[in-house]
Amino acid sequence: MQSIRDQLSGEVGDVFVSLSLPKELGSVTRSSRAGQAPFQCNGAMAAAKLAKKNPRELAVQIVEGLKSSPLIKSIEIAGPGFLNIVPADNLVKCQAAELAKDQRTGANIVTAPKKIVIDFGGPNVAKPMHVGHLRSSVIGDSLQRLLRFAGHEVISDIHLGDWGLQMGQLITQLQLEQPDLVYFSSDFDGQWPKQPPVDIDDLSRMYPLASAACKADETRMQQARKATAELQAGRAGYRVLLDHFIAVSIAALKVDFAALGVHFDLWKGEAAVDPLIAPMIESFKQGGYTEISDGALIIRVAKETDKKELPPLILVSSAGAALYATTDLATIIDRKDNIAPDIILYVVDLGQSSHFEQVFRAAGKTKIFDETALEHIKFGTVNGTDGKRFRTRSGGVMRLSDLLQQANDAATKRLSEAGLAQEFDAIERSEIARLIGLAAIKFADLRNQRTTNYVFDIQRFTAFEGKTGPYLLYACVRMKSILRKAQSAGISVGEIKPSAKEESALVLMLDEFDQALHAACGRRSPHILCEHLFDLAQAFSKFYASCPVLAAKDIAVQSSRLQLVETTLRQLQTGLDLLGIETPQRM
Ligand code: ARG
Repeated sequence: MQSIRDQLSGEVGDVFVSLSLPKELGSVTRSSRAGQAPFQCNGAMAAAKLAKKNPRELAVQIVEGLKSSPLIKSIEIAGPGFLNIVPADNLVKCQAAELAKDQRTGANIVTAPKKIVIDFGGPNVAKPMHVGHLRSSVIGDSLQRLLRFAGHEVISDIHLGDWGLQMGQLITQLQLEQPDLVYFSSDFDGQWPKQPPVDIDDLSRMYPLASAACKADETRMQQARKATAELQAGRAGYRVLLDHFIAVSIAALKVDFAALGVHFDLWKGEAAVDPLIAPMIESFKQGGYTEISDGALIIRVAKETDKKELPPLILVSSAGAALYATTDLATIIDRKDNIAPDIILYVVDLGQSSHFEQVFRAAGKTKIFDETALEHIKFGTVNGTDGKRFRTRSGGVMRLSDLLQQANDAATKRLSEAGLAQEFDAIERSEIARLIGLAAIKFADLRNQRTTNYVFDIQRFTAFEGKTGPYLLYACVRMKSILRKAQSAGISVGEIKPSAKEESALVLMLDEFDQALHAACGRRSPHILCEHLFDLAQAFSKFYASCPVLAAKDIAVQSSRLQLVETTLRQLQTGLDLLGIETPQRM
């Protein structure tokens, strides 16, 4: 369906055309200022410049052309030629009916769907997740939901970090602790054990030990490097160990991501593309794309126009190891062969900008993928209330489960302060707290323009007032409660007949969903949707404060307003779902 904004743009655009002016200049937008007409067109000034006419006179001509339009109730010229437009009552009423009827409350499907791979999450095997992985997961998950809802075909991939030095570090640590394991004997030719020799607690304990030891002791580091190189060269026992480490990590990560409500289609990792690396390097050499520099095999990616110098991409280190960029390039080949996407999005922190610039340029240069179809979806860092990089209370790296627990505790406290959910049984109350905690964390992250840094402040995030997840959940719950009461009172929904200005304002806000959805998708920016949902909840509050629903005298008014509540709830819940936020039935 077409939004009022688009219908008005068409109407005004036609008048522009009839005056031999470009149609696009007739485009209509929502006015930002309260108390003003809801729509405006600012194209008269630019058009006047083009046609070398007086803007005010031209505006008068445009208004003349729109006089008999059935879509417009009134149109006024302000200042040098701004056009303020009030849509016809009937247009608002018809639009309300369409929005109520449409399951998607006005959200259109793209006309040219793309196949899109989203690479996000990116935790590393054995290494604890940090807040960068959390941001990537929350933003990436919202993007996969948004793009899918918009009609694209989306394949998400967690892209585990399972091929780097940390693997060699773990292997040598394990050898130190259990030297007799069969994986370490070079002439073992029996059946490899099915059971992993470690569990997730072992891995979490061993990795920090190994990493610290390697930092402190060059011999340990050499051993870890050697093990990494042997693993990458295909040493059988190490490969089996790696598979164990990966399986153990994935099992634990699946629990974490399920708690977060984040889903991945693919659980592939860097190690999965190992077989592609040798042939890839060979073909890059053949193509003349590589050079040897200081013993390493590199691809030069700098451009003359670069403002900052971009170092070459290292394909093979001087020690003979494949590096992070090497596996990223091989992964592009893997995705091209198995998925054939139009676009690949990488939801990874800003700090890796140069890495992705190198990889994208190298992919373009070696012709494995169109450089412009590879996008780094960057995001900023999370700081603590002390202004430093966010850490947990104990000062260590964050564990997802601890963070969720912290959110849960804060949400529980908020509920009791607000006197909400207190009469429910303990199970329901804790489920509500869990949903509030998750909504608090996710919304606080997504509401910011993703490239900005933000401060992690669980007290602020869990507040029921302000631009927060809990505020939106509360708005949903209020609407659900109205619908429940209406049902038991036998009141049903009917045709929406907006009469109060708060009712029309709510309809016009509902009508903005399509625009917000597609802007959020196009700019890969969930915060645009957050903004819309917050505005919608506020428009609902204003409506509810001045337009009684169940207490309205007239039955037609009751069912009209009830339909408005139902439609608003449907859109708010759809929108929250696109942010990965689940809503409780009541609180
Ligand atoms: N494992 C990486 C890290 O922890 C993130 C992976 C991002 N994705 C990618 N294709 N490089 O930094």
